[in-house]
Amino acid sequence: MPTIESLHALFAARVTGLDLRRGLSADEAAAVCEALDRHSVLVFPGQDIDDEAQLAFSRAIGPLEVTRAGASGAGGYLLVLTNIGPDGRIAPPTDRQVLNNLANRLWHADSSFKSVPARASLLSAREIPREGADTEFASMRAAWAEMPERLKARLRGQVAVHDFGWSRSLVAPELVTAAERADWPPVRQPVVLGGPLGEALYLGAHARTIEGMAEEEARALIEEAMEFATQPRFVHAHRWRRHDLVLWDNRAVLHRATPFRSTAERRHMVRTTIAGQGPLLATAAAAE
Ligand code: OGA
Ligand code: MN
Repeated sequence: MPTIESLHALFAARVTGLDLRRGLSADEAAAVCEALDRHSVLVFPGQDIDDEAQLAFSRAIGPLEVTRAGASGAGGYLLVLTNIGPDGRIAPPTDRQVLNNLANRLWHADSSFKSVPARASLLSAREIPREGADTEFASMRAAWAEMPERLKARLRGQVAVHDFGWSRSLVAPELVTAAERADWPPVRQPVVLGGPLGEALYLGAHARTIEGMAEEEARALIEEAMEFATQPRFVHAHRWRRHDLVLWDNRAVLHRATPFRSTAERRHMVRTTIAGQGPLLATAAAAE
């Protein structure tokens, strides 16, 4: 059975004693799921896996989400974050890759703009730069637990509108296609997620506004909540080593990428995504 060691006072743990290449027993898979619920972020060092092994391990956690159109790996179950071109060399990024990379640097929960957002994500470091490109995680459970009551009171019970077209247009207006806007109309998500594991704030880069609130007031409130929730004391930065696999709970943490010298150093990461089981609110479609 796996060994689980804490990495931060509030969340995140390292899992050793499993070889993800040979698949998991039912008991091991259950132990990983339980650890994910408890720690929100799990780091599995030294897992030299290929795509097939990553898919098999991911499926042991839950059914997979299909990669959206416009992302590399669209229509399949893998999402590739790479600066390496088809000829095996560092490639000048396409406009779309630049955009995706910049967007990943904003605190976000994966696919919160979908009516059924991702439950969890797995990112495998196939090649990493010597410096930079840490992935940072912020515990939305710890942040919610410590948030001043006056701020909580304004957020509790509210519904946020998550809008991919809007969030992407802030990064690069000219690169959001009409097809993307049509694929991802605004959706409603609860601002606070409940559940047996504790409440968690659920906002991030796609959260545009709050239903029933004037746009300006909603923006100010979202920004105040995000600023509180992403303070350094709620953040664990993962410094990648080659062959790390990191699994995180998108309902409990936000995450973001950090920069690296992407025209000089290689980075090749493969993501799989565990699908959510249903909308977080009974009515997920936003009015607009
Ligand atoms: C992701 C993501 C951040 C990174 O894979 O969903 O946001 O550091 N990655 O690559
Ligand atoms: Mn992400």
